Amino acid sequence: MARIPDGFIDDLLARTDIVEVIGTRVPLKRQGKEYSARCPFHDERSPSFTVSPTKQFYHCFGCGAHGTAISFLMNYDRLEFLDAVEELAKRVGVEVPRDTRARNEDSDTQELFSTVEAASRFFQKQYGHSGKAQGYLDSRGVSADIRERFGIGYAPDGFNALRDALGTDDRRMKLLERAGLFSKNDSGRVYDKFRDRVMFPIHDRRGRTIAFGGRVLDKEDGPKYLNSPETPLFHKGRELYGLWQVRQTHNKIPRLIVVEGYMDVIALFQHGVDTAVATLGTATTPDHAELLFRNAADVYFCFDGDRAGRGAAWKAVESVLPRMKDGRQAFFLFLPDGEDPDSLVRQEGADGFDRRLREATPLSQFLFDSLAADVNLNTLEGKGRLAERAKPLLAQIPDGAFGDLMKQRLTELTGVGARASPPDTHVPTQRAHGGGRHAPTPKRSLVRSAISVLLQKPSLAAALTPPYRFAELRQPGIDLLVEIVDLVQQRPEISTGALLEQFAGHEQAGALQKLASQSFPGDDDTLQREFLDAVAQLDKQTIEQRLAELQHQHREVGLSAEEKRELLSLQQARLAKSPSP
Ligand code: UTP
Ligand code: MN
Repeated sequence: MARIPDGFIDDLLARTDIVEVIGTRVPLKRQGKEYSARCPFHDERSPSFTVSPTKQFYHCFGCGAHGTAISFLMNYDRLEFLDAVEELAKRVGVEVPRDTRARNEDSDTQELFSTVEAASRFFQKQYGHSGKAQGYLDSRGVSADIRERFGIGYAPDGFNALRDALGTDDRRMKLLERAGLFSKNDSGRVYDKFRDRVMFPIHDRRGRTIAFGGRVLDKEDGPKYLNSPETPLFHKGRELYGLWQVRQTHNKIPRLIVVEGYMDVIALFQHGVDTAVATLGTATTPDHAELLFRNAADVYFCFDGDRAGRGAAWKAVESVLPRMKDGRQAFFLFLPDGEDPDSLVRQEGADGFDRRLREATPLSQFLFDSLAADVNLNTLEGKGRLAERAKPLLAQIPDGAFGDLMKQRLTELTGVGARASPPDTHVPTQRAHGGGRHAPTPKRSLVRSAISVLLQKPSLAAALTPPYRFAELRQPGIDLLVEIVDLVQQRPEISTGALLEQFAGHEQAGALQKLASQSFPGDDDTLQREFLDAVAQLDKQTIEQRLAELQHQHREVGLSAEEKRELLSLQQARLAKSPSP
C-alpha cells in the first residue's frame, strides 16, 4: 500500500479544522474551549462526546470512541485510511504525496482490478447464454433482481472459455494468472480455474470485485464451492461476502448477521433480511471482528448447532472479546440440525428468522456456559477451574462497564473475582506502600504528570535537548515518556490527536487516551512551567539514583578514575539543581 509520510499527516491534521469536519455531520455545541454533542457512535441521551480544537481530537466519555479527524471519517463515513486522508486533503486543497514506486504499484493494482472486473462481466454475460445456470438459480428461487445486485454469473464448461475471451496477449495472461483465475497442470499449461460453475463475485469495501466463489451445478463434480486463492487483492481472512451490498442498502446498519454460505446471504437478502454477510469458508478472524463492529454495534453469529458449529462459535468469541467496547453486543444463534439460514428463511420467512435472532444467546451467556460445560459448579474444585479458565479471557475485554459486569458474573458463579479494572488508568501512580493506618493518599507520580501535560500540548517536548538525563531513571512510565518526547522531537508539529494515533497499538494506549481527554486548568505558560518542573525533578532523581549506585560501588569494590570523575560531577550537578539557600 502506498505509504504517506507522517509529516504530511501531521500537517494535514494541523490544517484541518476538526470542529468543522465533525460539525457538518453531528450538531456540536460550544462549551468553553471545547465542543460537545450526543455521541454518534453509541446511543445516549445526554452528551458525553467532546471535540477539542486545540488538541485536534474527539473523545467520548461514554463509549470511549476517540481519535483525529482521520479516524472520525473512517468511523463515521466508514472510509478506509487512504480515502479519509484524500477527503481531508481535498478540503484543505493539498495533494497527497506518493512516491513513484507506490504510483507504479498503484497502476499494477489498477490493472488487476480491471482484470477481475472484466472476468466478472464475462461470467455475467455467459449466464445469459446458459439455460442450465439459469435453471439452477431458478430452482433455488433466486430472483433476477437479486442476481443482478450480487452480480452472479456463470463460468462455462471447458478449459479455455475465460482464457480465450480475455487472455488475448501475454500481459493479460499474466494478469489473469495473478488474479487467481487460472490453474496450472503438471506440464505448466494454464487453464480456467472455474469451469461449469455458478459464480459469486466477492466485492471489497468500495464495491470493486476482487475474487470469486464458484458453485458446482452437478453434485458429483469436485468440491461444492471453489474459491479464488489469496491474491494481491484478496485476503479471505479480511473480507466478508455481502458487506458491500449491505452497505449499499443501509446508511446506518442496524445489525450484522454472520452466516457461513454465499447462498445464505443471498436467500436472507431475498426474503428481506438484508444485513447478512458471510465469512469465506474460514473461521471468524480478528480482522473480521474488527470490520464487523466498525460497521454495526450489534453482531449476530449464526452457526450449526453441532460440535463443529460450537467450535466455530468459540473461535468467533476469541476474535470478538478484545473488541467488546461498551455499546457493542455479540450474539450467537445455533441452527437446528440439518438447517441453514437459507433453508430456514425459506420456511419461516423474515419474521421467523427475526424471532430466532431475538432469542439468540448473548456472548456473556455463551462464554460462561461453554467454559462451565464440563465443570461441576457445586464443588470448589469446579469453581476453581471455571475461574482459572475465565480470567485470561475476561482480561481481554477492553476497560469498561461490560468487562466489569463479566468479572462480576464470574464472581457470582465462583466466589472468585477477576480483578475489575482499577478506577484509574494504568500509567503509574506512586502507590503508598504499607503505610498502616495513616497511609498518605496516593500522589500522582512525576512521570505521570509529565506525560499528562505533554498530552495537553505535545510541542512542549521540543524544548528538551537530547540526550535526556531522566531516560536513565528506573521508574515505571519512563520509557513511555521518552518515547513520546522522541516522537515530538521528530515531529514537532504533532497534535494530541495524531500522537494518540501513533500510540494506538501501544499497551498503554488506553491510559494515554484517558489522560489526554482530561481538561487542564491553566494557560500555556502554566503548562510549560509544570512540564519543565516535572522534567527537572526527574533529572534530579536520576542524579540521586546514579549517585547512590556509585557510592554503593565505592564502598563495595571501589571506583575507577573515570567513575570518580562522574561522582564528582554529579555532586556538583546536584548542588546546581538544589534551590539556593
Ligand atoms: P455448505 O456446504 O454449508 O454449503 O458451505 P451451503 O452454503 O449450504 O451451500 P448450498 O446451499 O449447498 O449452495 C458453507 C460455505 O462453506 C464454504 C463456502 O463459502 C460455502 O458457502 N465451502 C463449502 C467451501 O469453500 N468449499 C466447499 O467445498 C464447501
Ligand atoms: Mn445451503
